[in-house]
Amino acid sequence: MPSTRILRVDTQRPDPALIARAAEIIRGGGLVAFPTETVYGLGANAWDAAAVGRIFHAKGRPASDPLIVHIAEIPQLAQVAREVPPSVPLLSRHFFPGALTLVLRKSARIPDNLSAGMDTVALRMPDHVVARALIKAAGVPIAAPSANTFSRPSPTSAEHVLEDLADKVDLVLDGGPAHIGIESTIVSLVDEPPRLLRPGGISLEALRALLPDLQYTPHFANDADAAVPAPGTLLKHYSPRARLLLFHGDDCAVYAAMRAEIARHSRVGLLLRQRDAVQFADLDIRTESLGSNSEQAAERLFAGLRALDKAGVDVILARAPEQSGLGLALHDRLLRAAVGEVIDARAML
Ligand code: TXA
Ligand code: MG
Repeated sequence: MPSTRILRVDTQRPDPALIARAAEIIRGGGLVAFPTETVYGLGANAWDAAAVGRIFHAKGRPASDPLIVHIAEIPQLAQVAREVPPSVPLLSRHFFPGALTLVLRKSARIPDNLSAGMDTVALRMPDHVVARALIKAAGVPIAAPSANTFSRPSPTSAEHVLEDLADKVDLVLDGGPAHIGIESTIVSLVDEPPRLLRPGGISLEALRALLPDLQYTPHFANDADAAVPAPGTLLKHYSPRARLLLFHGDDCAVYAAMRAEIARHSRVGLLLRQRDAVQFADLDIRTESLGSNSEQAAERLFAGLRALDKAGVDVILARAPEQSGLGLALHDRLLRAAVGEVIDARAML
């Protein structure tokens, strides 16, 4: 494959000629990384099994982990799914376009490798002008996982995509930073009652306002599990190269436990809310701020993990967020980055 081209694209009014070039690559069976409001996607023609196979190869993704199909308009839903449960019109009215992915029974046109041999398909309509323009111009739904190497933090900028996938993708559309910064919320409507499979950009509370019986049981499968884990529940996910230590507890206990940990290592980095980070201002320590609210934390989380890795730290200290609103997804991503371990700060004092 020739070396990857990167094209800067206006996120409000993308140049139609540029979108047409990207769409041509998709139609020709190639790979295009593109911005969405959640994270960057690694896209291919969803109807083309060979092109879909290239996605798995480029990411080093196990064949057991199915992809999300991205659509631009509601009528495409019926091409991708063969059954449309009664809750879909209500959900799509509220959350399409947006950070909600629905798992439905798949249509016969969905290649087996895309859905990892299952009878279901995940589908979403991104809320991003460039993503939707690309899908429309291609004239086909676009299969796209996050555009990172398997188990690395998801990409929230074109630079992140290149860090992982340079020379493995034909084109990267650079639309600047992804503003939500964590992936979509996945809801399975195949099960009765409906089940939340992955917390994300749309909160559980907002979904339960429409689907009162929506179930959520956090599930973290271990690499070493003998059985094949449910798709996407692998524990080691979103992982930085450095070890991430996730602390739980009240302010005093967490700050004291973190100071003890800082004293133990020579190359430590902090990934903290601003109000927590200022507690360590007296120390000369590499810090990535998660801002002052959940929205900012989501936007900065993956970029912060990558920045600390680049800085060469061995250990990253982070704090477990409240598990409400966007905090549920933040907690999920941090816990996976910490490979499942939460440290009780009080127990360390
Ligand atoms: O925000 C997002 O959802 C981003 C952007 C690019 O759209 N995409 C994304 O894709 O996060 P990916 O592949 O990194 O994560 C998709 C998740 C995986 O955990 C996969 O196992 C799950 O969706 N998934 C896909 N199809 C499924 C299915 N039929 N049933 C259950 N889970 C499914
Ligand atoms: Mg991913």
